[in-house]
Amino acid sequence: TKPVRVALLGCGTVGSEVARLLHEQADDLAARVGAPVELAGIAVRRPNRHRDVPADLLTTDVDGLVTDDGVDVVVEVIGGIEPTRTLLLKALSAGRSVVTANKALLAECGAELFAAADASGADLYFEAAVAGAIPLLRPLRESLAGDRITRVMGIVNGTTNYILSAMDATGAAYGETLDEATRLGYAEADPTADVDGYDAASKAAILASLAFHTRVTSADVHREGIAGITAADVAAARALGRTVKLLAICERVTENGEESVSVRVHPAMIPRSHPLAGVGGAFNAVFVEAEAAGQLMFYGQGAGGAPTASAVLGDLVAVARNRVVGGRGPRESAYADLPVRPMGEA
Ligand code: NDP
Ligand code: HSE
Repeated sequence: TKPVRVALLGCGTVGSEVARLLHEQADDLAARVGAPVELAGIAVRRPNRHRDVPADLLTTDVDGLVTDDGVDVVVEVIGGIEPTRTLLLKALSAGRSVVTANKALLAECGAELFAAADASGADLYFEAAVAGAIPLLRPLRESLAGDRITRVMGIVNGTTNYILSAMDATGAAYGETLDEATRLGYAEADPTADVDGYDAASKAAILASLAFHTRVTSADVHREGIAGITAADVAAARALGRTVKLLAICERVTENGEESVSVRVHPAMIPRSHPLAGVGGAFNAVFVEAEAAGQLMFYGQGAGGAPTASAVLGDLVAVARNRVVGGRGPRESAYADLPVRPMGEA
C-alpha cells in the first residue's frame, strides 16, 4: 500500500518524541492506519542540534517541506503565530491534513484555519493543543456532539499547576519551581505565556468554541495569571483548609432569555476536599457538564514531551486512516454565532 508521508515541523520537546514514537512504533502504526506512515522530512532551525534523528531527514527549508508534493500530512510542533499560520494555511489549502499542538495559533486564527480545511476537504486535528495527553477535544468534537454542553471547567496549564502544587506542598518559592518546570519541558518557549495565564486562556477559547459551537478567541477570555500569588497567599489558603489552583471556566449563560458564553481564567482558592485540589504536578483535570450526559471528568498528564506526543500520534493515526479510506473528521467552520460576554462580566 502507498505510504502516508508526514512532514514534521519542529523537533523540540514534543517533536523529538513524535519522531521517536513514529520510528519505534512504525509496524503498529502501519497496522492501525492500513498503510506505512513515513517521515518525509523534519523542519528545524538548527539542524546540528538534532543528532537523535536521521540527518538526511532534517531541513531548514520549512516552506519547501510543507509544499512538497510528496507530503500527505503536516504535523506542526513549532509553536507561535508566524510562520506557522502561513505554513498551515498553505498545507490545508493544498488539501494536506494537518495535526497541530499549537493552542496559541488555534485560539487566535482558528476560524481561518478551519475555513481553509473545509474549503479543501482536509483534516485539521489538534488534540495535543489542550490538556496534553488527555483525550478531551475528540470527546467534545465527536462523542458529545449529540448532547448540549453547559460547562467546561478545570486545570488546563501544567506549568502553573506544577508551581502552585510545589508552593503548597513545600512552601517553595515561585521562581525556582518555574525554572524546574522549564527544565522538565512543561513551560512554553516564553514561560510568561504560562504564568500570566495566556496559555490557559488560549486553551479555554478552544474548549469553549468546541463545547458551545461558537467562535471564542483568546482576546475574548477574561485572564488573570499566577504571577501575583505569593508564598504567603498559598500559606493563608492552607490555613483555611484550601489550596490555590489556576482555573479555566467556560459556561453557557442565559440571562433575560438571551444565551451567551462566559470564558475566564483566574486563580481560585478551592477546598482541599474538592477533586481538583488533589491534582498535582503538571497534571490537568477538566470537568465537562452536559444536559444528557451529566458530569464527566478528564484527568491526566497535561504537559511534557511524551504525553503530548501521544496525543499528536493519536491524531496522526486518525488523519492518516482517513486518507487511506477516503474519510474525513469533524468540520468546525459552520459554527452558530453564540455571543461571548465581554471581558470582566464573568
Ligand atoms: P520547543 O521550543 O521545544 O520546540 C520547537 C521546535 O520548533 C524546535 O525544534 C525548533 O527548532 C523548531 N522551530 C522553531 N522555529 C522554527 C522555524 N521557523 N522553522 C522550523 N523549525 C522551527 O517547543 P515544544 O516542543 O515545547 O512545543 C511545540 C508546540 O507544542 C507549541 O505550540 C507548544 O505550545 C505545544 N505544546 C507543548 C507542550 C509541552 O509540554 N511542551 C504540550 C502541549 C502543546 P530548533 O530545535 O532547531 O531550534
Ligand atoms: N506550557 C503548557 C503547560 C504545555 O504547561 O500546560 C502544555 O500545553
